[in-house]
Amino acid sequence: MTRHLDPDETGLKRAAEMLRRGGLVSFPTETVYGLGADASDDEAVARIYEAKGRPSFNPLIVHLPDAEAVEALCMMDDTARRLAAAFWPGALTLVLPIRPYAGISKLVTAGLDTLAVRVPDHPLAQALLRETARPVAAPSANPSGRVSPTTANHVLAGLAGRIEAVLDGGPCGVGLESTILDCTGVTPALLRAGGLPAEAIEACLGVPLAPPPVTPATAPSAPGQLSSHYAPKGTVRLDATETEPGETYLGFGPLGAEMNLSRSGDLVEAAANLFDCLHRLDALGAERIAVAPIPDHGLGRAINDRLRRAAAPRR
Ligand code: TXA
Ligand code: MG
Repeated sequence: MTRHLDPDETGLKRAAEMLRRGGLVSFPTETVYGLGADASDDEAVARIYEAKGRPSFNPLIVHLPDAEAVEALCMMDDTARRLAAAFWPGALTLVLPIRPYAGISKLVTAGLDTLAVRVPDHPLAQALLRETARPVAAPSANPSGRVSPTTANHVLAGLAGRIEAVLDGGPCGVGLESTILDCTGVTPALLRAGGLPAEAIEACLGVPLAPPPVTPATAPSAPGQLSSHYAPKGTVRLDATETEPGETYLGFGPLGAEMNLSRSGDLVEAAANLFDCLHRLDALGAERIAVAPIPDHGLGRAINDRLRRAAAPRR
């Protein structure tokens, strides 16, 4: 049975205790709900893959309370430190060289000599990480290939009975996964567009981000390389200015749509609503979904990335 924990002292203590004993606990972050496990515990991490039904070549993000805790596990150069100072806590994940003997399960890194790390900007996530006092590996708390959860009920809809608990912190503020940067080269490379717009990162660095490094098709370095991902159950048609018979319309801007990402055309609001709309379309049994055009700048780039994946042929 999966417990639904309140966001109070008792709920936090329980959640931390479960994590320290090798359990799986879903917790809120500002981006999406994570499915947490002690990153130093091989068995606990293995259970993440089992609960999600996730292909095991996908490495996981480790969550830590601050940059100091990150630096104890990873090597950070001046660029990484600058990014950390500007954007942590926040929706930014850095892929960094891992220190020898960092004590992180090989199942987390999938055997790579790098580690993806993030300092979440959510009071409950922060409190849980401090109370647990372990590095916490956490992918999004959804079955593999499904839409990421932005409420505790989304988590339960996908994973009830498969995890120990969900800590309920209400809806996530950002609503899209973190932006992932590979910081192992001279110039950071964008591995996944996400909740922190690339433009903000480039403004901080004063240089354009590098394109993603080329990786073998068998070893995707971020979900960007997996074509079908973030999918609702129905099929998805993009850039639709009107609907065809039998389609449910997901609008953007002042349109008479059944469901709307943001009537005022606000990309931040659209990002926060995206996954909830896709979950609601699933709940409605929508078989064919038509989505309005979304501007391709700022958070719109991450929204379009998720929508393209939702529309990709299923495997
Ligand atoms: O917002 C988020 O990032 C959420 C919340 C829970 O923090 N987490 C999340 O984790 O989206 P996940 O596991 O769904 O996505 C992590 C992605 C993986 O698909 C993986 O390919 C990439 O990060 N990744 C992890 N470690 C990596 C590494 N060492 N090198 C390159 N990519 C890595
Ligand atoms: Mg995910």
